Amino acid sequence: AVAPAELSVLGLGGGAAAASGAVTRADFPAGFVFGVGSSAYQVEGAVAEDGRKPSIWDTFTHEGYSLDNATGDVTADQYHKYKDDVKLLHEMGVDAYRMSIAWPRLIPDGRGAVNPKGLEYYNNLIDELLSYGIQPHVTIYHFDFPQALQDEYSGLISPRFIEDFTAYADVCFSNFGDRVKYWSTVNEPNVETIGGYDQGILPPRRCSFPFGFGCEEGNSTTEPYVAAHHLLLAHASAVSLYRDRYQAAQGGRIGLTLLGWWYEPGTQTPDDVAAAARMNDFHIGWFMHPMVFGDYPPVMRRNVGSRLPTFTDEEAARVRGSFDFVGFNHYIVVYVKADLGRLDDQVRDYMGDAAVKYDMPFLKSRNQFPFGALTSDFMTSTPWALKKMLRHLRVTYKNPAVMIHENGAAGQPDPSGVNSYDDEFRSQFLQDYIEATLQSIRNGSNVQGYFVWSFLDVFEYLFGYRLRFGVYGVEFNSTARTRYQRHSAKWYASFLRGGELRP
Ligand code: NOJ
Repeated sequence: AVAPAELSVLGLGGGAAAASGAVTRADFPAGFVFGVGSSAYQVEGAVAEDGRKPSIWDTFTHEGYSLDNATGDVTADQYHKYKDDVKLLHEMGVDAYRMSIAWPRLIPDGRGAVNPKGLEYYNNLIDELLSYGIQPHVTIYHFDFPQALQDEYSGLISPRFIEDFTAYADVCFSNFGDRVKYWSTVNEPNVETIGGYDQGILPPRRCSFPFGFGCEEGNSTTEPYVAAHHLLLAHASAVSLYRDRYQAAQGGRIGLTLLGWWYEPGTQTPDDVAAAARMNDFHIGWFMHPMVFGDYPPVMRRNVGSRLPTFTDEEAARVRGSFDFVGFNHYIVVYVKADLGRLDDQVRDYMGDAAVKYDMPFLKSRNQFPFGALTSDFMTSTPWALKKMLRHLRVTYKNPAVMIHENGAAGQPDPSGVNSYDDEFRSQFLQDYIEATLQSIRNGSNVQGYFVWSFLDVFEYLFGYRLRFGVYGVEFNSTARTRYQRHSAKWYASFLRGGELRP
């Protein structure tokens, strides 16, 4: 999700890595995958069509918790326009399209009967992609938990989630796995748990401290850890199922996708350096450490104590090694300080455990969204932060295979409501990060793919339609939802056809 700190221009400085001659895609290892991405709720629309039932995101948006009361009811209408979209993907020349399956479209009640129309839609989309030689990289669960299950039990904080998720994943593997060779079980569990069970800013809006805009009563000192634990166990269970029953026959690979901010020390004092390391542990170590070593990072065990769930030996063995690759969604750097000074109430619990402080102005109140201050290039390009993150993964987690599942820059719509073609800032941003990826590979990181977020302008969760990430724009004020190419799409197409990274 767009992170608070993405909006407070953190990470000043940085900028492009030194020019290093004419980079082209031929400089990347053979088989390196270039793509673009989207997710079901953000792009499909047709939320009440052909048997789809609500997810917690439908509920959340219809209750008015997103900016401008925006919803994904229609959004870019990919449900109806997927053929045109696949043509655009083909014209752009991508190797792969990162998409997700909507659980409540495929299994409307979350458990039980499979919706034939849901099957048909994803079969059609997958076949259409393959007919152009575009690989589908499929996320099984991208935030859109079925409302029916949420009503039945308390979402991710119930262990029943594990069984339901595994059964849903089974439906995906058995129906699409003959053609889908890249699976990501879960998108950004580190965002969903903090946003949905600590801060209360994402559905199901649970927290235990007042935000000024209301959230359901929860226990935010414990629930995010429980939710994350269940997500990890659900992920591992789906991976075991895939490996036991499908992988040999289908020949695919499976992993999960984390938000990968890079936490950088605010100063080089030992305390700030340690604080940043702690925060990286709480952010990505939370999932990486169990997946590589079978338990949470020692600093989390120390600081969170008995509120942090434990793994049985069997669970630890199942979680350890439960990935063929790990996806990272990387956007920004966040500066961290050890001196807590006065912490705002809103960030006390989770931040209390990590014992760090950083600037999250977005969290203070919905009224303080800094939109007035946004310009089209507000997202500072700090490609060195991606390099540091990739180095950290290489050194700390035994150099896992990595897919950069998301990287991109948000702009905002023109005041006229029509988006502009001119997004050179975005082309430049992407060039910086693709170059940083190449340098990381040359330094030994095992990066195997890079996906721009996003293919189209889409419903951007908390920010509705005010933030536009697309290399293709969408005219949201036309019923036709006309797509139009931006500079960045044209540049990406030329790069993908062998042109220079920085023409
Ligand atoms: C991460 C999420 O996976 C995606 O859904 C979101 O739109 C982007 N980041 C941008 O905020």
